Amino acid sequence: MNQHNRQNTPVLDSYWMPFTANRQFKAAPRLLASAEGMHYTSVDGRKILDGTAGLWCVNAGHGRRQIAAAVERQLSTLDFAPSFQMGHPIAFDFAERLAEIAPGGADGKLDRVFFTGSGSESVDTALKIAVAYQRSIGQGTRTRLIGRERGYHGVGFGGISVGGLVNNRRVFPLIPGTDHLRHTHDLAKNAFVKGQPEHGAELADDLERLVALHGAETIAACIVEPVAGSTGVLIPPKGYLERLRKICTAHGILLIFDEVITGFGRLGASFATDYFGVTPDLVTTAKGLTNGAIPMGAVFASRKVHDALMHGPEGQIELFHGYTYSGHPAACAAGIATLDIYRDEDLLTRAAALQDDWHEAMHSLKGLPHIADIRTIGLIAGIELTSREGAPGARAYDVFVDCFERGLLIRVTGDIIAFSPPLIAEKSHIEDIVSILGDALKRAQ
Ligand SMILES: Cc1ncc(COP(=O)(O)O)c(C=O)c1O
Repeated sequence: MNQHNRQNTPVLDSYWMPFTANRQFKAAPRLLASAEGMHYTSVDGRKILDGTAGLWCVNAGHGRRQIAAAVERQLSTLDFAPSFQMGHPIAFDFAERLAEIAPGGADGKLDRVFFTGSGSESVDTALKIAVAYQRSIGQGTRTRLIGRERGYHGVGFGGISVGGLVNNRRVFPLIPGTDHLRHTHDLAKNAFVKGQPEHGAELADDLERLVALHGAETIAACIVEPVAGSTGVLIPPKGYLERLRKICTAHGILLIFDEVITGFGRLGASFATDYFGVTPDLVTTAKGLTNGAIPMGAVFASRKVHDALMHGPEGQIELFHGYTYSGHPAACAAGIATLDIYRDEDLLTRAAALQDDWHEAMHSLKGLPHIADIRTIGLIAGIELTSREGAPGARAYDVFVDCFERGLLIRVTGDIIAFSPPLIAEKSHIEDIVSILGDALKRAQ
């Protein structure tokens, strides 16, 4: 039996929480009990507006019965089946459905799909596919992986090595043979921009410098988030991604877009790849893939990459990589139901319809205390606060707690607030976000 005290609070000792100040949290816990549509309900019965789609994943809103029913049906039909040298129809069905909406334009869709269990696994999978691809085309010296400062690519050793967030890296050994582009954040030139900033396309030329430094023949791939989320929402300058694509192509380097947060409608197109009209060779996804209901990720690969590995004797495993839960039947069921909802409710393009209201609402906060920048794209906003003297991150954390107590879930990284509400948001929800956050900022020290 669960042990709960009178406030409906469970015993908190045993659960070692991820990315959490455990002792601080357990002294004053924030616990969510249920969710429906745009709202959570806390254990003490308060409605909390979800300004972050959970963790950028519940794009179709909470409590979708269609997904629950599909998972229930699947679990009572086929709960688990191995995917190594075995198959089950729903994994193939889901891959075909994903192929229909796969990222990619004129250069061809990335319609070969490798299933994983999370965003971190998708990233490590894509990095490994890139290295394996290079070897398969006779470029075995290409093992170096290029990431970007302030990038977040999950928490596997590959992901933190190409990632660029110091707290995720400093304690751990990193895989050798990585290097980083500079990040694109430039408040002096690009503050308070709606959409893509004007300045900074030339930062993509960092990749030319790394080619000059290391030799193209050592570099397998370059991975970036098309819009960097976890670092506090960094939107690519106009022309930047195009330039990166060109340099990768010129030097035989594969380009990987990490679309774990931008995939499935966040920008108003199915993928950032389509929104920006720049097609990489591999795209990593997770989160919105199953509306967050069941953990799952997927890597989309171009035919060029996929087909290059389909060589050698037919009885030989082409890629020595995979997970027990790759293509898990329940996750596939959740994914197919999620795609049905996205299609039936036009959610993959809804952010485009909401974008103008969203821009206006978020930028209306300009001038309130502590705000150093507001940046918006699709249904994403980053609001950067000035830091309190000697206590970086403390101000945004206080705002986060204040908002939670007044019924709004926001996400903070350092002193940057990020918003990514479910794509079912209405204008009234956006107004509530602005009102609760605005009041919290006025109170903030
Ligand atoms: C761009 C990006 N890549 C990878 C990840 C890691 O995903 P997961 O937490 O599912 O491992 C995240 C998570 O926020 C992300 O934003």
